[in-house]
Formats: sequence, C-alpha cells, structure tokens
Amino acid sequence: MIVTTTAASYPVVVESGALASLPERLPALGLRGALWLVCDGAVAERYGAPLAARLRAAGHTVHVFSVPPGDASKSPAQLAELHTWMISGGVERRDAVLALGGGVVGDLAGFAAATILRGVAVVQMPTTLLSMVDAAVGGKTGINHPLGKNLIGAFHQPRLVLADTDTLSSLPPRALREGWAEVIKHGVIRDAALFEDLERLAEGRGWSAQAPGGLWDAGDAGLTAQLSELIRRAVAVKVEVVSIDEFEQGERITLNYGHTVGHAVEQLSQYGLLHGEAVAVGMHAEARIAQLMDMCDGDMVGRQAALLHAYGLETALPAYDVDAILALAMRDKKVQAKKIRWVLPASVGAVRVRDDVPEGLLRRALHA
Ligand SMILES: NC(=O)c1ccc[n+]([C@@H]2O[C@H](COP(=O)([O-])OP(=O)(O)OC[C@H]3O[C@@H](n4cnc5c(N)ncnc54)[C@H](O)[C@@H]3O)[C@@H](O)[C@H]2O)c1
Repeated sequence: MIVTTTAASYPVVVESGALASLPERLPALGLRGALWLVCDGAVAERYGAPLAARLRAAGHTVHVFSVPPGDASKSPAQLAELHTWMISGGVERRDAVLALGGGVVGDLAGFAAATILRGVAVVQMPTTLLSMVDAAVGGKTGINHPLGKNLIGAFHQPRLVLADTDTLSSLPPRALREGWAEVIKHGVIRDAALFEDLERLAEGRGWSAQAPGGLWDAGDAGLTAQLSELIRRAVAVKVEVVSIDEFEQGERITLNYGHTVGHAVEQLSQYGLLHGEAVAVGMHAEARIAQLMDMCDGDMVGRQAALLHAYGLETALPAYDVDAILALAMRDKKVQAKKIRWVLPASVGAVRVRDDVPEGLLRRALHA
C-alpha cells in the first residue's frame, strides 16, 4: 500500500514479522544516517532490543530511548527530553527517528522528528491495533497541552509505516478489543466487503455477545493470519482516505464516524472508557441518528451492533445526561457555523455528512 500526499509518498506495510524486515528496507528509503529508536516502555525489551540488535548488525548506528507508557508522556517535558537526548547525541539532518509503540509514542516521537533540526525523517512502527489502523498513517503528530489533548503538533508524514501484527500477541486483551472498533468503523465508512468478512469470521468462529479472550491466539496460526489480513484491509481504508485528503479538508471527516458521541462519552467517563470502547458506543448512537433521519434502516443498525458485540465491544450508551453529551458534541472539531457535522451511515460501506439533524431527533436517538 502507498500513501500519496503532496509532501511525500510512502509505503505502508502490514504483515506478520514486518519488524525484522526494517534493515533491508532502509537503504531503499535513502536512510543511511544514525537511527534514533524511541520505544514505548512496555515494548522496549520485547521488540525494541531485538530490532536495535538487527539494525546494528546491518551496520547502523542506533540510539535507544524508552518512554514511560501512557498519554502523560505526550507532554512538553517529555518532548524536551527527547530533543535533549538527540541534540546531545549529535543528531544530524540525514538521521531518522524510529517510533516503536502505540499512538502515544507515534505522536510524541513523530513530533520530535518534525521539530528537531526543523525536521528529520520518521518511520512509524505501531504496536497497538488502534495505532496500526489509525494513528500511524496520515502524518498527524503532536503532544498534549495542560489546557487540552493534542493541541500542539504538526503534520509530518512518515517515510515508512511498518506494522508487525505479531506485536499484537502481547497487547492486553482490552487494548486489543478497543482496536476492533476502528477496524469495524472502516468497514462501515468505506468497505462493505471488509465488514462482511468480519461478520463471516465471527460467525464461523461462533463469536457472539462476547468474543473469547483478546481475539488473538498466537497458537492459532490460521486465525492470526485471517485477522492480520482484515487489519491490513482496514489500514487500506485509512491509506485511501488520507491520500485523498491529506490536510483534513474533506473526505477525512468520514474517519470521525462514531467520534462525535464517542469523544463526548469518553470525556464523560473521565477516560474510564478506552477510546475504542467509546467509539463503539458512538457508532451505535450515530447509526440510530441515521435511522431516525431515514438514512438507513434498523437492519443496518442491528448488523453493526451485532458485529461490535462479536468483537467484544459494548454498544449501550451509559446513562449520561443528554444535555452534557450535546454540550460536548458542540465543542467537537467538526462544528462549523455552530452546526455539528455528523458523519452518518447510509448503508454498510457508505456514509454521508449531515449538518441538518434536528435537536429533538438527536435527543430521541440518545435516549434510546
Ligand atoms: N496521530 C493520529 O492521527 C492519532 C489518531 C488516533 C489516536 N492518536 C493518539 O494515539 C494515542 C493512543 O494510542 P494507543 O491507543 O495506541 O495507546 P498507547 O500508545 O497508550 O498504547 C496503549 C497501551 O498499550 C501498551 N502497549 C503498546 N503496544 C504494546 C504491545 N505490543 N504489547 C503490550 N503492550 C503494548 C502501551 O504501553 C500502553 O500502555 C492517543 O494519545 C491519541 O491521541 C493519534
């Protein structure tokens, strides 16, 4: 897969064992300088150390930095530490940052790469399902500000995205499950065949309300191969959308399906719900809005709910005050001229943007 943007075109590789192929891929990318490997603390030993050893064996100079896990690491202080580490280690313009971890490390290390010496190359190596399907592709990088999340950042497209699906075997089950929400979302917004294949796999395996374990059984090669392929196709949806709309001017809004209600619910839960869990709830609520708008039928809403359940996700809206949900939705970044632009499903595989949803209808959908 190739992402095409005005700034650059770059390959996106999603496969089992992908990390081991990094040394042989670097020369083709023209990356011959020192490598600054930034690892999430949870994956540094397991995947970072063997990767650094392989790169050194291939003749590269490799510096390694381990970042404490958690969103708190997307901070000005942690960014400054990365800058200091690179400057005191003699970073040069031809060097590259390698980001190994979930969206936290991808965003932080990506922004460090965007800003050091006015920009050096970055390779994104996502190790969570959420970051494979979303954060690693598209070039958005950044950190949090004390006044809000993701407020400081830059578009900085990677030179390569290398997603090794084997790394998902060590992901905690809940973190893996939340990632399926974004995979299913990509089916709903743009790829009906992906949605149907996710349904077929769940049916064949007898998954119903609660899928077993974390949906990843390293001992079941057939299953992991099928799941890897479905993940690859979900990433392809992001690759397509980002290639069409690099700077979030149009098509990219469709990726926000489920996120208007989802973000509100995530905040009202005080981040007790994981992002993907909140998106699953948001997708269900927004599909109900579409149904009440006569854009889709109850069958579509039911199929989507059944699929989310099969991959271990809840869809019921927690009992939050509807006014509080609507107030937070009004602060959504998609609000234009005081109107929320809703991304709503017309059918599996197709969404429309609507800014004419009456408030009374919203209230009915959110009470359901
Ligand atoms: N740039 C973008 O376009 C974009 C898009 C979506 C989200 N984001 C950002 O991404 C971040 C969330 O990313 P995330 O969900 O990947 O969370 P994360 O990076 O915090 O990772 C989740 C947890 O899993 C651990 N972990 C990561 N990989 C592991 C592995 N293979 N095995 C075991 N443990 C592992 C981490 O230590 C962490 O505790 C947020 O900060 C969000 O703002 C960015």
